[in-house]
Amino acid sequence: MDNFLWDITTKVYFGRGQIKNLGPKAAGYGKKALLVYGGGSVKRIGVYDAACNSLREHGISFAELSGVKPNPRIDSVREGVRICREFGAEMVIALGGGSCIDCAKVIAACVSCEADPWDLVCGREKYKSVLPVLSVLTLAATGSEMDPVAVISNMDTNDKLGTHHPAMRPVVSILDPEYTFSVPPYHTACGTADIFVHALENYLWHDNGAFLQDRFAEAVMLTCIKYGPIAMKNPEDYEARANLMWAGSHAINGLLSLGKEHPWVAHSIEHQLSAYYDVTHGAGLAIILPHWLNYILNDQTVSKLQQLAVSVWGVAPSGDGFSDAKAGIIKMQEFFASMDLPGTLREVGIPDKSRIKEMAQKAFRYISRRSYVPLSADDVEKILEACW
Ligand code: NZQ
Ligand code: ZN
Repeated sequence: MDNFLWDITTKVYFGRGQIKNLGPKAAGYGKKALLVYGGGSVKRIGVYDAACNSLREHGISFAELSGVKPNPRIDSVREGVRICREFGAEMVIALGGGSCIDCAKVIAACVSCEADPWDLVCGREKYKSVLPVLSVLTLAATGSEMDPVAVISNMDTNDKLGTHHPAMRPVVSILDPEYTFSVPPYHTACGTADIFVHALENYLWHDNGAFLQDRFAEAVMLTCIKYGPIAMKNPEDYEARANLMWAGSHAINGLLSLGKEHPWVAHSIEHQLSAYYDVTHGAGLAIILPHWLNYILNDQTVSKLQQLAVSVWGVAPSGDGFSDAKAGIIKMQEFFASMDLPGTLREVGIPDKSRIKEMAQKAFRYISRRSYVPLSADDVEKILEACW
């Protein structure tokens, strides 16, 4: 196991009624906030009113940026930065899913910079100071509530890029599973797939003795398999929503990748589907994942993929690692299909194969050289072809 630093700054208030802590905790960061939220779900489910009341009770005034879209756009970031400066916001508070939290993070990081936010997201300019970010999570999926990463899209250039800064990690996150009761089945399934893939991207590395991290990752994947379908069938099952929510945070807060490499391959490919066709992140991952695993099954990866099949998918070891690994991948596909997730690019409305090559070349730029199995742009193209 490699050396590591474990430093989680986020204070997590988990459970029913924890929104009451928003005002008191925010008061520690100033008196003026920017609230960031999406297309209205937070108003329908009462999160917006509860958050506003708690902030007002503690003397915090706020400006608002609403209408943040899934696959949040750089234009929303620019608008948020403008409002923050005009209002003099001392913190940014996200109410919603990963898209709102990501947008809030990048706004918080861009306020102190003169450069255009897209230049900062692209890495052409450097972040300086970052306003404190607080989040009230309403969808179990991305883990943005506890990580230092944000993903922003620029549909004009067909780019969806991850950006990060240690200070983007929220200082406070309110995780009330009841706020996710209203998440529709499709987004529950997409969120479950996203959590599963986060755990798997951390899991797939050559054995370097990080035994415990692998068991943590298996636990997160098993939690998705057990509770994703329950939450879809019984949206108000607190136990299911609570376990999914906490699994989502741990899948990406750093715990699973401590002391090992964690190249994110399926994500680098999926981000192109979102950037070119505005595909929902978890749905894109569910399509790509089985085809990527099939493609990289070889003598070097077979024992890990067999372990995945046995420990996570319950495949009985047959003595033939390849056939066990393949059986695991089939079970994974069946699981995604059972949650009504798409299995092909056609199903998410991609009209033809005309941009597969371009997407493959772009994805290749973001796939780390230290990928679990090194892939060329041609390899990525073949994986995307198989997804067709
Ligand atoms: O816009 P509203 O009205 O809020 O509706 C949202 C949206 O339509 C709705 N929703 C959220 N909570 C709800 C709800 N509907 C009913 N009841 C609730 N309680 O769900 C829809 C999707 O929301 P969104 O925030 O887009 O979903 P998610 O949390 O999956 O975030 C996806 C974004 O995060 C990025 C993805 O790429 C994508 O852009 N990711 C961020 C990561 C990170 N920060 O570390 C890592 C991930 O791998 C991922 O890339
Ligand atoms: Zn993801």
